Amino acid sequence: MEIKVFETMQDASVAGAEIIASAMKGAGHFVLGLATGSTPVPLYRELARRNKGGELDFASVHSYNLDEYVGLDGSHPQSFRYFMDDNLFHHINIDPANTHVPSGTGGDHEADARAYDEMIEAEGGIDLQVLGIGNNGHIGFNEPDSVFHAGTHVVDLTDSTIDANKRFFERREDVPRHAITLGMGGIMRAKKVILLAFGAVKADAVRALVKGEVDPQCPASILQLHRDVTLLLDRAAASKL
Ligand code: F6R
Repeated sequence: MEIKVFETMQDASVAGAEIIASAMKGAGHFVLGLATGSTPVPLYRELARRNKGGELDFASVHSYNLDEYVGLDGSHPQSFRYFMDDNLFHHINIDPANTHVPSGTGGDHEADARAYDEMIEAEGGIDLQVLGIGNNGHIGFNEPDSVFHAGTHVVDLTDSTIDANKRFFERREDVPRHAITLGMGGIMRAKKVILLAFGAVKADAVRALVKGEVDPQCPASILQLHRDVTLLLDRAAASKL
């Protein structure tokens, strides 16, 4: 695991964009795994800037997002589909048909979850996965648990996650209680992983990810077993390493 610490989240995000740009260079068909939340916003801004400047071409990129709230469709401003359109897809030359976010509104979540994994598999897996990390160590919406879940699945969100995400909603009661998330199998099969974390609020989770046991109580700790992970941190997030 490579750990890079930067003065600002902007610097870390530029470094993240650089890693993505190098991986995409000359690749042709490229499968990009994406995250939502506050953390990747400056990264997405930098990717959009490079695309606008003609340095980075998304025409052959197929994207797969990690997760979606159950019950919110893409027209809901707090849905992750809406977030991605708003923060990235509408600002780059990706074909909208090649952008994928799990559906949280289908009638059969289990079938949707299986179909999502099969689509990624059919693409040859994820070439590069972008991750954030929850204050409780979650990646995607793989919450602390007694086991690691391999496939895409529906999760009950923990109180910690509901508290962390209520800032995006009018009231805590409005935060959905369930989400559909890519499992650890999909994440661990990604050829390359970059994880960004900013702020003191992430310091404990980052410490557990790097220095703790590989333990499903800190889902991100499984990344210790991945052979190509780069952490891009600001000083505050790295402060307990
Ligand atoms: C969202 C996701 C989550 C977030 C995490 C951190 O797609 O994968 O694991 O990365 O909850 O969220 P922020 O960046 O808002 O602190």
